[in-house]
Amino acid sequence: MEKEIVLVLDFGGQYNQLIARRVRECGVYCEVLPYNTSLERIRSLAPKGIIFTGGPASVYAEDAPLCGKEIFDMGIPILGICYGIHLITHLLGGRVTKAIVSEYGHKEVKVSSSSKLFKGISDKSICWMSHTDYIEAIPEGFEITASTDTCPVAAFEDKKRKLYGVQFHPEVVHTREGTAILKNFLYEVCGCSGEWKVSRFTEQTIASLREKIGDKKVLCALSGGVDSSVSAVLVSKAVGKQLTCILVDHGLLRKNEADEVEEVFTRQYDVNFIRVNAQERFYGRLAGITDPEQKRKIIGEEFIRVFEEEAKKIGKVDYLVQGTIYPDVIESGLGNSAVIKSHHNVGGLPEHVDFKEIIEPLRNLFKDEVRKVGLELGMPEKMVYRQPFPGPGLGIRIIGEVTPDKVKLLQEVDYIFRQEIASAGLDKAISQYFAILTNLRSVGVMGDERTYDYTIALRAVTTTDFMTAEYAQIPWEVLSRISNRIVNEVKKVNRICYDITSKPPATIEWE
Ligand code: XMP
Repeated sequence: MEKEIVLVLDFGGQYNQLIARRVRECGVYCEVLPYNTSLERIRSLAPKGIIFTGGPASVYAEDAPLCGKEIFDMGIPILGICYGIHLITHLLGGRVTKAIVSEYGHKEVKVSSSSKLFKGISDKSICWMSHTDYIEAIPEGFEITASTDTCPVAAFEDKKRKLYGVQFHPEVVHTREGTAILKNFLYEVCGCSGEWKVSRFTEQTIASLREKIGDKKVLCALSGGVDSSVSAVLVSKAVGKQLTCILVDHGLLRKNEADEVEEVFTRQYDVNFIRVNAQERFYGRLAGITDPEQKRKIIGEEFIRVFEEEAKKIGKVDYLVQGTIYPDVIESGLGNSAVIKSHHNVGGLPEHVDFKEIIEPLRNLFKDEVRKVGLELGMPEKMVYRQPFPGPGLGIRIIGEVTPDKVKLLQEVDYIFRQEIASAGLDKAISQYFAILTNLRSVGVMGDERTYDYTIALRAVTTTDFMTAEYAQIPWEVLSRISNRIVNEVKKVNRICYDITSKPPATIEWE
């Protein structure tokens, strides 16, 4: 079968990976490449279509990211979105200037039904706009196919050369018929067959991992979470026992977790499995540290040190596999976004790592896509639907200093919370739920005695991609049961709060 791929050229927009994801959802494999990718590279991938993303720059600015005009002569259909349509205009002799009226948010767009891009789309469709520049004059050979009351060129096309552009963002959910418009581009314009499924990603990833790794040795950081487990299974399917999985018990895992992971990976998969009990080491380095970012850095660094030591024991190791997924990448500020938290898997790495390269097979995927890959790989549902657990573990759920006693306390609390959520049948409906040991003590009364103990916060959210999240509406009676059990069964806790903020403005974890 012909390999079918659509490329997204990234001009710095917020939604570039989202575009790729939408395309994949339409059944076409898609990857994001930098805007200055060479034409040779593009040609070698033989894409069925190319999408130019939006971006914060103005095409007429001196340092605007541009690509060579030759791209339009390759005979490959192109769709420019926002900055992308401006770029097509600018490079092909039209004119882009500052708009008299900037448009932001929902706009009614009148579309021409004769355009392939708008086949089956309502004449007046609600689209999401976000622009301060506009197209004043379209290039020769193009015709206008959509407009709003303040934007004369909301879409255009040159049918002959298969060049299309839209001023609005079809990839965001606010554009009501956005997916249908993208589908039209993929199927009506590019002639895609839509054969891509998660199985193809899995197959291709295993094949390319096999090729890349060759006969070299690989180490994998196993945390028991979905991302690292799926990554490990992908690599194990590619190179079998050349892979050594290391589970570092940093003493910040959930109750019984290290044992459970050990059980699954030693019984079910054909990999070398090493468990390192490094609790004391981590507690030692975390003593007296209260700053969240510092804690993350320490845990991330120590983690890598442990790997380096294990690597030395097993001889030369060439690659390190990590379960980084796309939201980790953007939230760590590796794209254009601001640093919110330095994620363990990405920003927390020290500079001198004793490995040739880090392999991150899931780097371009969102969480729900990772789960699909896991199921495709035949992993047990229990593991695939396991709620995510951050690399720094309970270390970032204990506000302030981390001590072994606090870890023990939080493990017990968290265990009760998880048990009760499962027995209320809510575990599938809630994406992530956990307890936080706040740094706050308050006065309580227990058996006529004054207490002065910790406050626990409970957090439970629903989300599909973990970039945004809603707090879960757990029934009061379930919350009451959880609260009762915790204060009765765990010493040194006398108050329970439930966190009812969404993300944004809060994040899911507290640190
Ligand atoms: P936040 O708190 O940023 O969390 O809203 C989003 C998702 O990412 C998880 N998370 C991490 N995962 N390493 C990870 O592998 C980390 O350092 C890390 N920090 C947060 C978090 O649990 C949630 O699912």
